[in-house]
Amino acid sequence: MTAQEIRRAYLKFFEDRGHAVVGRAPLVLHDDPTTLFTTAGMQPLMPYLLGDEHPKGARIVDSQTCVRTQDIEEVGDNRHTTFFEMLGNWSLGDYFKEQQIPWFWEFLVDVVGLDPQKLYVTAFIGNEANNIPRDVVTADTWRVLFARKGIEAGVAEIGSEQQGYERGMKSGERIFLYDGTKNWWWRGTGIENMTPGEPGGPDTEVFYEFDFIEHDKKWGEHCHPNCDCGRFMEIGNSVFMEYLRTEDGFEKLPKQNVDFGGGLERIAAAAIDSSDMFKTSLMWPIIDKLQQISGKNYESHTESMRVIADHLRAATFLAVDGCVPSNKEQGYVMRRLIRRAIRYSFDLGVEQNFMQEIVPVIADMYADDFPEVAESRESIIAVLVKEEKAFRQTLRKGLNELTNIYNRNNGKFSGEDIFALHDTYGFPAELSIETLLVTLDNAKLDENWRWQFDAMMSEQRQRSQTARKGEFHGGLEGTDPIHLKYHTATHLLGQALRQVVSQDIQQHGSNITTERLRFDFNSEKLSAEQKQAVEDLVNQWIDENYPVTYKIYPTKEALEIGAIGAFGERYDDEAKVYRIGTSDKQISLEVCGGPHVENTGKLAENGKRFKIIKEEASSAGIRRIKAVLH
Ligand code: ALA
Repeated sequence: MTAQEIRRAYLKFFEDRGHAVVGRAPLVLHDDPTTLFTTAGMQPLMPYLLGDEHPKGARIVDSQTCVRTQDIEEVGDNRHTTFFEMLGNWSLGDYFKEQQIPWFWEFLVDVVGLDPQKLYVTAFIGNEANNIPRDVVTADTWRVLFARKGIEAGVAEIGSEQQGYERGMKSGERIFLYDGTKNWWWRGTGIENMTPGEPGGPDTEVFYEFDFIEHDKKWGEHCHPNCDCGRFMEIGNSVFMEYLRTEDGFEKLPKQNVDFGGGLERIAAAAIDSSDMFKTSLMWPIIDKLQQISGKNYESHTESMRVIADHLRAATFLAVDGCVPSNKEQGYVMRRLIRRAIRYSFDLGVEQNFMQEIVPVIADMYADDFPEVAESRESIIAVLVKEEKAFRQTLRKGLNELTNIYNRNNGKFSGEDIFALHDTYGFPAELSIETLLVTLDNAKLDENWRWQFDAMMSEQRQRSQTARKGEFHGGLEGTDPIHLKYHTATHLLGQALRQVVSQDIQQHGSNITTERLRFDFNSEKLSAEQKQAVEDLVNQWIDENYPVTYKIYPTKEALEIGAIGAFGERYDDEAKVYRIGTSDKQISLEVCGGPHVENTGKLAENGKRFKIIKEEASSAGIRRIKAVLH
């Protein structure tokens, strides 16, 4: 089946089972200030999941367009996209898991025709601290369904990421029990991060196995359904929303809801047994057009073609929903998507305008099923064409400026030059680097350019107001308690690395989610002893409970007192400097926008310890640590 056929069959399947078909909501939800875009099918249905009556009844089915931008840098591999469709079916206090799981299965196996031998499922292992039992009903329901197809499905307790999933998978196992970070859903967060008043519950995910993909140990010793190696692809998730988070724990909701989300493009990829989502019918026509325009083929230009196809599909739907490129909020993201697509078109040797040819291909894929796409066809094309013209002009100006710098500075480029090109001319850093390495003879790039550039970028991001919203925040802007803790832990980690490994270590990027911190830095691979020593030192500082305070200094003075992460006088004359420690015993001093916890002892709340869960190569000479407070 094509993706379009799967979408139609899905809506029909649930319509036949008493569901009202509702249209998609726009990508920009004006009455939800918490996120920039619709990121899941449940988002527009929030009021009904919280108890309001839906005008169409208690059973709803739809296919919701979603945009998730947090993985934008990862687009280019076989499965990350910023835009996708989420098939949804909802029970608003009507049927529950015993009924929904068999429908989910029937649709995948009997309607789409997926081989049940390639399906693996997960369920919630239970949570003692909150007195929430294991989801036995879900596991049993799956076992019976597999058995009906002659498959004996073993149940395995796979546990948690902190334990490293040490046990791995054993032959005959199909049903995997994970903890509340993986098998609990409330707006994409696990059980630990819910706040009072929020509804959520255990979920069950179905994974499709590409048995031709060998597990790569860089993702962990053992493979399992939630492993990132690519062997398993999640194709759907049913959330059984039956709990309410209260001040002191959880209680049952008066009504039990089901929130199902299935990735249309992923199901379509499974249907053709292809691990490459870009081979499906809602992607391939774009790739094919790119091949024609550029004369290059997909096999040799895979990443560029994927980025262009994904980004322009997202930008097209944003245009359908009334978004226009601008410098703030949704418009900024849209501009970024379009500009990235254009920058990648250079890799294909496409220097002429190409929106005029690509956007109609995208509109045609959707016009039959989404009347709003057909209706706005001409205006969407116009919006994207206009942005492209302006940006290609920008690129030409940027190229001129690049040549000016080259002539002025005898071919030398600093991180500041690259940032200025980006900031003033909108000229992407990658393009600057490529241009000067490839076309300007003997150009010399300062070896610290990346560090300087990243530092300036993150400073700029912290200043920008729009960066404070939902999905948009890239690194350290979050203000909920767990973000604050990870932010402070990030400073401690950086300092511990400098003390244990090398004084020359600098931060090359950092990112925080509610579940972990990530820290990139220049170094050789760490030994087991070094990792242990770093962990111990961070935990020691946590136990010693140092205050975390800040003071605004004139930038020059901040540099003089030895604050790190400062980038000279180019910026404001003032810098906010965070100190961990006291004037007698100073642990770290960093220029940083904050915010942080008030003292390091907070990181040990609820008996948590700091733990490094991964240390791996990120790029040449750069290592990446992922760490948790567990
Ligand atoms: N709301 C659930 C998800 O997005 C189905 O995974």
